[in-house]
Amino acid sequence: MTPQLRRALAILGIGGLVVAGLAAGAWYLHGGNEEIRSGGVVSAGGAELGGSFSLLDQDGQRRTEKDFAGQYVLLYFGFTYCVDACPLAMLAMSQALDRVDPAVAAKVQPLLITVDPARDTPEQLKTYLANFNPRFVGLTGTLEEIGTAAKAWRVVWEPPKPAADGSYQVNHTTIIYLMGPDGSFLRHFDHLSNSDDIARALTEIVR
Ligand code: NI
Repeated sequence: MTPQLRRALAILGIGGLVVAGLAAGAWYLHGGNEEIRSGGVVSAGGAELGGSFSLLDQDGQRRTEKDFAGQYVLLYFGFTYCVDACPLAMLAMSQALDRVDPAVAAKVQPLLITVDPARDTPEQLKTYLANFNPRFVGLTGTLEEIGTAAKAWRVVWEPPKPAADGSYQVNHTTIIYLMGPDGSFLRHFDHLSNSDDIARALTEIVR
């Protein structure tokens, strides 16, 4: 375990968490006290997933899908205040990139697109991403801009409804997408995927 990951685990308070072999329902929504699972499946063959987006990164620079053309992209939609699924997904992605050959890792761009743009400012993303793989790019924007990206990847999410005390979680699907250098969808994982399995898939697929 890298110091980076140990720090992330400590911060997130899940150092002792064992992720049991839960049935991997690809669609997972979470938020507040509720957890909802349904049996939806992302079909790999011919699935039209992905599209164009225009969002701000953690340095406040505008980025579009064209900036990542020619690279494999490991993409996750989540938010930095998430207390359950997102930290697991982010760690799985980071650990997978730590475990593959550096030549493979160098061809894979990890991306986080927030589903909570009100709180996930570029500055907040930057602080959060310091806990994970240093090559992570975090993206935020207006609700409309996030909505455009979410729709392209068929992300199911509920725009946040803050509680009276201002706190809230955001229900969202927790799929990790592996996109090819031409922007095509190649494979999906989720927040319960084992980082070794993701690493193995990257080693098989990335050329
Ligand atoms: Ni989450």
